Amino acid sequence: MEKMFYVVSMAKKLVITSGKGGVGKTTICSGLGYALAGIGYKTMLIDMDFGLNNLDILMGIENKIVYDVIDVLEGKCTPRDALIQDFFEPNLFTFPSTHGFCRIKFGAKELSAIIRELENDFDYILIDCPAGIDGGFRRAVACADDYLVVTTPHISAIRDASKVIDLIKNSNCDSGATINLIINRVRGDLVEDRVTLAPDIISKYLNVRLLGVVPEDDGIVRKDLYELVDRHSNGFGLSMHVISGNIVGDKSDIYDYSKKYRGAIGGIRRRLKRWI
Ligand SMILES: Nc1ncnc2c1ncn2[C@@H]1O[C@H](COP(=O)(O)OP(=O)(O)OP(=O)(O)O)[C@@H](O)[C@H]1O
Ligand SMILES: [Mg+2]
Repeated sequence: MEKMFYVVSMAKKLVITSGKGGVGKTTICSGLGYALAGIGYKTMLIDMDFGLNNLDILMGIENKIVYDVIDVLEGKCTPRDALIQDFFEPNLFTFPSTHGFCRIKFGAKELSAIIRELENDFDYILIDCPAGIDGGFRRAVACADDYLVVTTPHISAIRDASKVIDLIKNSNCDSGATINLIINRVRGDLVEDRVTLAPDIISKYLNVRLLGVVPEDDGIVRKDLYELVDRHSNGFGLSMHVISGNIVGDKSDIYDYSKKYRGAIGGIRRRLKRWI
């Protein structure tokens, strides 16, 4: 596929982070990438999780990588040469990270230099961080226009999200970057039964703007993320469109995660879920 670059304005850099690992950052990064690109925004994804990175795998580009970030840092190619265009979505590109040990210094300065070279080519750059506040996070902080902190409704994940939010506030207080919350793997039946906390209560507790709610969705393991987002099918795909609409339009719409569990029929569904 031919690489084309039309965008002339500067990209908005969104750093996707979390306190606890495995809460869905990479899944959401890919899903939002497809949603934003699908509505016409040139979008680039970049993985800060060296060694354990799985964005490449999720995007299906492992075997297409010619140059990765190390080649760029060593001056063997330009950042543009390394970009890989998505197979399904021509507006979506992934900047390949590296599998294994990064033998060359890659700090905030180096990431900023790469992003500076590419930011005029894109509308959005989504930076997928490893969990916590180590290397990957520190690199990304310097470039952040906005943060998307991902948590699940579980107490341990919420506590860890709270620590990361405090750190962002302390490390980046003058930058004007906003901190937004995405609550993933929300089960409408459990929220209706008051077993887990409702997303608005979690966002009030963490004192950050609730940007989106993503439901628990088995479709993620059954289908390609592209298919879920492109066909607006399943809760995951639909929620990605609601969140991307909020990002683009500065809105605060929330996917109705408990719709099918309300009312008389919803009550029966909830009971069935409990029994099986
Ligand atoms: N809404 C969801 N419904 C069902 N499964 C989900 C959902 N979101 C993520 N998952 C699953 O959770 C697992 C972890 O997701 P993912 O790798 O995106 O997390 P992560 O936060 O990037 O992890 P890490 O901290 O290791 O980078 C994956 O198996 C993914 O398919
Ligand atoms: Mg990840």
